[in-house]
Amino acid sequence: MAEIISIIGNKGGTGKTTLSHTLSHGLTLLGRRVACVMTDEDREPLSPVGRRYVIADARSPVARDKVVEKLRDLKSWIGVLDGGANRSITDITLYQMSDVVLLPFRDSAEDLRTVMRDLDLFPKAWALPSQWPRNRFQLDAATRLIDTLPLEFRERILPPFFALSASKVLLQERVPEELPAQLNNGARALAKQIMAIFEDPFDDVADALGRAAQDGDLSEEADEV
Ligand SMILES: Nc1ncnc2c1ncn2[C@@H]1O[C@H](COP(=O)(O)OP(=O)(O)O)[C@@H](O)[C@H]1O
Ligand SMILES: [Mg+2]
Repeated sequence: MAEIISIIGNKGGTGKTTLSHTLSHGLTLLGRRVACVMTDEDREPLSPVGRRYVIADARSPVARDKVVEKLRDLKSWIGVLDGGANRSITDITLYQMSDVVLLPFRDSAEDLRTVMRDLDLFPKAWALPSQWPRNRFQLDAATRLIDTLPLEFRERILPPFFALSASKVLLQERVPEELPAQLNNGARALAKQIMAIFEDPFDDVADALGRAAQDGDLSEEADEV
């Protein structure tokens, strides 16, 4: 059965579309077969030419359900669903049909408020720092901002996907034959990180830690984790 990853969140400009394409590309670099499923009706689907992944036009709910149903039958495929902004109802549907759900957010107080609400609403979703600053001062400020969050939210935040100007390339109607190395590297790293969620979901880690604590050998298990 195909695995379905959704990138959602009730705010525009957080990087959902960029991350959908970058992750799709990155997963193909890890040898997976991938469909990037575009559900945002405000966005024209992009040409598949030159891409390592398939693009599915799923701008209507009917088309989306058909695409996901079809994907589910395809062994070893991964579907990456790009959500749209301000679509709370659609987000709930995407959440329910997905194995992994990502909530990108940027380093602003407003984004943090939104992502906390979404983490609350979607208990199995992961928050993904997006377009994260590389500059030392900005990075420190962003880290301090995250440190203000309650632990229950902080422990569901993945390592950041940094600002990467080359990420725009995959959003072009047609991609160039040769992609920048930084884009390939960033995409591969992102894909590895997301695949780790499949292999070692939070529940399993939490369960393992809980069992270890009961057995009194937490340090050993924690090292392994
Ligand atoms: N990691 C990144 N590095 C640099 N620019 C980015 C990154 N992620 C997104 N952007 C830019 O931010 C803007 C919004 O991104 P987009 O993916 O369209 O967000 P959304 O789909 O959530 O509305 C776009 O101009 C995009 O090029
Ligand atoms: Mg978008």
